[in-house]
Amino acid sequence: MSLEERFQQLTPHRQAHSQRVVSVMEALGRAHHLDLEAARLAGWGHDLAREWSRPALLAEARRLGLTWGPFEEREPLLLHGPVAAMWLREAGVGSPEVWEAIRYHTTGAPHLGKLGRALFIADGVEPGRQYAERDELFHQALQDLDAGYCAVLASTLRYLEKRRLTPHPDMVAAWALCSPSGHHGETEVRN
Ligand SMILES: [Fe+2]
Ligand SMILES: [Fe+2]
Repeated sequence: MSLEERFQQLTPHRQAHSQRVVSVMEALGRAHHLDLEAARLAGWGHDLAREWSRPALLAEARRLGLTWGPFEEREPLLLHGPVAAMWLREAGVGSPEVWEAIRYHTTGAPHLGKLGRALFIADGVEPGRQYAERDELFHQALQDLDAGYCAVLASTLRYLEKRRLTPHPDMVAAWALCSPSGHHGETEVRN
């Protein structure tokens, strides 16, 4: 099945979400000088596997040769990013940067590239989502990608805490680099 067919099989609701993520990726891409084609592709493809069932995701992840941890074992829906990333890679569509972005779009990750940070933000702040600080987070991310990434991580962690859910280790590790001593960017020179 082609990637386009996979997209067409998503519900209209999911397709609309993905299109809104594409729009936010374009805005973030322009603001932060990202490759716009890669930015759009990452947004378009990030949830291609989001509507697969848990058993189907586990079987597909196995077929693709992915490895995963206890978190994904307990909640296989977490595999929808890694599976979609492999679909693009198998199809020879996109670049390692795009695959990395899609792979980690649900959790974030430490040392994630710029495109990946943008996608994590875009998925969290697309205008179909409704929560108080959404607009503010979007504008913060337009000004400063790292500050926006950390603010969306913080917002997500607060949400999980309220619901007494344990955050994924990749998210915890990403957040650890947001502390004053931590660092996400790639250009800072330290003495
Ligand atoms: Fe997703
Ligand atoms: Fe999404």
